[in-house]
Amino acid sequence: MLRPILAALVIVAAAGAACAQTAGDAAEGGELARRWCGNCHVVGRGSGTSPATGDAAPTFASIAAMPSTTALSLRAFLQTPHHRMPDFALTRAETDNLIAYILSLKAN
Ligand code: HEC
Repeated sequence: MLRPILAALVIVAAAGAACAQTAGDAAEGGELARRWCGNCHVVGRGSGTSPATGDAAPTFASIAAMPSTTALSLRAFLQTPHHRMPDFALTRAETDNLIAYILSLKAN
């Protein structure tokens, strides 16, 4: 029951730290992540091996834990095509939500 509240607090903190770069909705982002990214990435808090790609695709929790991961770095990544990832043509709001979700995994 506390999780959504915690997640919201983390987002507020993360957004503050990133100069309010992200105003995404982590719950929405979590939905998107499960639907679009879950084939290749472990998108939850757990570790484990990614479904389709084995170890090739890092888990979202491990992405969140990297010191270099910020709202800005995620945005840059998601807005450029990557040869091993499909081009999702994410909208601005979808990108914001996914970023909020991934960053919410930072504070485990
Ligand atoms: C078809 C499989 C596939 C799908 C679907 C996919 N990814 Fe990936 N993703 C990968 C692979 C493989 C890598 C590792 C890329 C590399 O290291 O070259 C990666 C890397 C990443 C990274 C970079 C991690 C880093 O090292 O900085 C992010 C962020 C990411 N994915 C986010 C997403 C998001 C968000 C979605 C859903 C919208 C998604 N991915 C869907 C396969 C996928």
